[in-house]
Amino acid sequence: MRLLLTHNLLGKWAAHYLARKLQQFTCNHQRPFVLGLPTGSTPLHMYQELIQLYRQGKISFKNVVTFNLDEYVGLAPEHEQSYAYYMHNNFFAHVDINPSNIHMLNGNASNLELECQSYEQKIAQFGGMDICFGGVGEDGHIAFNEPGSSLNSRTRVKTLNSSTIVANSRFFNHDITQTPKLALTMGIKTMLEAKEVVILAQGLKKAYAVRQAIEGALSSICPITALQQHDRVVIACDDFATYELKVRTLRYFDNIDDEYALVLQQLHGVTDDK
Ligand code: GLP
Repeated sequence: MRLLLTHNLLGKWAAHYLARKLQQFTCNHQRPFVLGLPTGSTPLHMYQELIQLYRQGKISFKNVVTFNLDEYVGLAPEHEQSYAYYMHNNFFAHVDINPSNIHMLNGNASNLELECQSYEQKIAQFGGMDICFGGVGEDGHIAFNEPGSSLNSRTRVKTLNSSTIVANSRFFNHDITQTPKLALTMGIKTMLEAKEVVILAQGLKKAYAVRQAIEGALSSICPITALQQHDRVVIACDDFATYELKVRTLRYFDNIDDEYALVLQQLHGVTDDK
C-alpha cells in the first residue's frame, strides 16, 4: 500500500495518473482498458481535469470500458441525484467514450440480484478492471460496502447505515425521508480483483478512515482496511485527510520516491520526465 500526499492537487494528480496509465496501455495492448469509477464530491476535480486532458487531445476514452462502483436503488437515471445522472453530466457527456462501453448498475432493475450477478459477469468477461478508482466514506466504507461488509463480498444489494444516509441527505434537501436507504454496490472482493486500486480521500472528515486504512488492523468493520491485502493500492490524500496519521507514518511514505510521486512532481513542474 502506498500513501501519497497530494496537498491541494488531489483531483489533478488522479487525472494525470490515469492519463499516464491510459497512454502506456494504448501503446501496448489491443484490448480495451477497463476502469472502475466512483461518484461523490471527491472525484469531481479528477473528472474535470480528465475532460481538459481530453479536450487538449492528450487522452482518448475510445478504448476504455467503464464500470461504476455503485448506484442507489429506486432512483431513475434521470434523477439528479442518481449516480447515472452524475456520471453523464460530470464526465461521460464530455469525452469520446462509446456509450456501449459504459456500465452502471441499474437500481431500478426488476430483479436486483440478477442485475448484480450479471454486472460481476460483465467485469469478468472484460478480464477484470485495470484500475479501480474509489472514494471513501467517513466510517471507512468503500463504494457502498458499509462497515460489517464481508471482505469477500461481491456485487449486491446493500442496506445503507444511518451515518451514510445522514451524509447523503445533503444531496436530498437534507431530508432523510427522501434519501435512499438501499443501494447496489460492487463487492469488496470485486474491487480487490482490480489490478490496481486508487482511493481518493479529501478533508478532515476522512482522516479517521485514512488512519484506519494505513495504520489500522484488517477488519470488516472498517472496509477500506481490506485494501491492505491488495498488491497495488495507492491512497491519495490532501493534507487534512492525513491529520490522524502518526508523524512517523507520514515521514515514512514521504521518503518513498516512485511513479506516483513522479506524476505529482510533473504537476509541480519539478521534473521533465518524458
Ligand atoms: C458515498 C459513495 C462512495 C463515496 C462516498 C464519499 O457513500 N457511495 O462511493 O466514496 O460517498 O463521497 P464524498 O466524496 O462525497 O465524500
